[in-house]
Amino acid sequence: MCDDVPLAAMAEVAGTPLHVYSGVLLHTRVRELDAAFAAYPHDLHYAIKANATLAVVREIRSQGAHADANSGGEIDVALRAGFTPDQIVFTGVGKTHDELARAVTMGLKAINAESPGEMERIDAIATAYSTRVRVALRINPDVDAGSHPHISTGLRANKFGMTPAQAHSMALAMAARDHLHVVGLHVHVGSQITSADPLRRGAAAIADLARVLAADGIPLEHLDVGGGLGIAYEPGQAVLSVDDYAAAVLPVVRPTGLRLILEPGRWIAAPAGVLLTRVVDMKVQADGRWFVIVDAGMTDLLRPALYGAWHTIEAVTPREGTPIACDVVGPVCESSDTLGRGRELPPVAVGDLLAVRDTGAYGAIMASNYNRRPIAAEALVDGSGWRLVRRRQTVADMLQWDE
Ligand code: LLP
Repeated sequence: MCDDVPLAAMAEVAGTPLHVYSGVLLHTRVRELDAAFAAYPHDLHYAIKANATLAVVREIRSQGAHADANSGGEIDVALRAGFTPDQIVFTGVGKTHDELARAVTMGLKAINAESPGEMERIDAIATAYSTRVRVALRINPDVDAGSHPHISTGLRANKFGMTPAQAHSMALAMAARDHLHVVGLHVHVGSQITSADPLRRGAAAIADLARVLAADGIPLEHLDVGGGLGIAYEPGQAVLSVDDYAAAVLPVVRPTGLRLILEPGRWIAAPAGVLLTRVVDMKVQADGRWFVIVDAGMTDLLRPALYGAWHTIEAVTPREGTPIACDVVGPVCESSDTLGRGRELPPVAVGDLLAVRDTGAYGAIMASNYNRRPIAAEALVDGSGWRLVRRRQTVADMLQWDE
């Protein structure tokens, strides 16, 4: 079941692969995170990159969250979902001139600048449009997130942000400019973080710099500690609770008195989604394990192939009998197209429905048309009802871009 709706009924109507989201859980997650920080002035800016499906973003917005956009496309998603420009922060390495020009003229809550060069470009655009733009400086604190290397962003060797020393001298040099308003500092040390230390150290790096800037006569409005809070993908995996997270961050930020911004993505959306997929073939391996071949693959859920990530896989209607040892694999022509290796499942047969868990974040949004596979449909459960919120792509949809 997803809330009060049988998953099998949805798969019957909408087909598979199908991403299913629980509206109830999306709401609950936003509210739980918000409550953990209730003792201090803060804003949750949902990281749209985690799941940019309009209906999902709207559910999250309905609970009072604001938005973190990482591209011009995500700014458009935010606007379409109903956020106002002053509720959007704009982050990202390599913002183009067009993206910056639009962001500057829209009057976003903050553009998080990644480099001295980008600050100069923002200033030039703001000057050309005779406007004053709100910017925050993204710090690279040289902190190891302890996560997968692909999603650790806070080390000096990573492409993100600038050193605290660079940011300090830049803030001094640019604070006097008419068209720039330095309103905050930003840090994001990585994603799927499961211990307090990297999050605390990231926050401390910007809190320390904020104190230095205040002494220099450059008062700020906010500290943006980014996202990164991990979830338990594997049964029994140790993670931080939202209260642990608040206990790590708040004592560091509180002495500055500055408003706190958080950019959670995964923690809100991941557990609210499952990917439904049907078994299309079974094949026994030399060692007696089975290949359970399903109709979803790395084009629908890239995380296992890209990060070796674990997602729990369950039979939607488990059959009686001795469990089987298996690898759950997709139909794509790559051996990396494995959704779960070395798993145990109840006996399964061709046509059975499986649910891949915790796919609400970085699932549908990372889909591709590799092997010319159409992008899967997405459904949202709203208590006892459900609706399709993104229709299945057709081959005709795919080919219409070709000349
Ligand atoms: N803020 C910034 C600036 C970010 O770069 C990110 C994620 C977030 C917030 C949200 O982080 P979260 O709370 O979701 O950890 N595709 C990868 C995750 C990439 C995360 C990129 N940045 C995965 O599937 O694990």
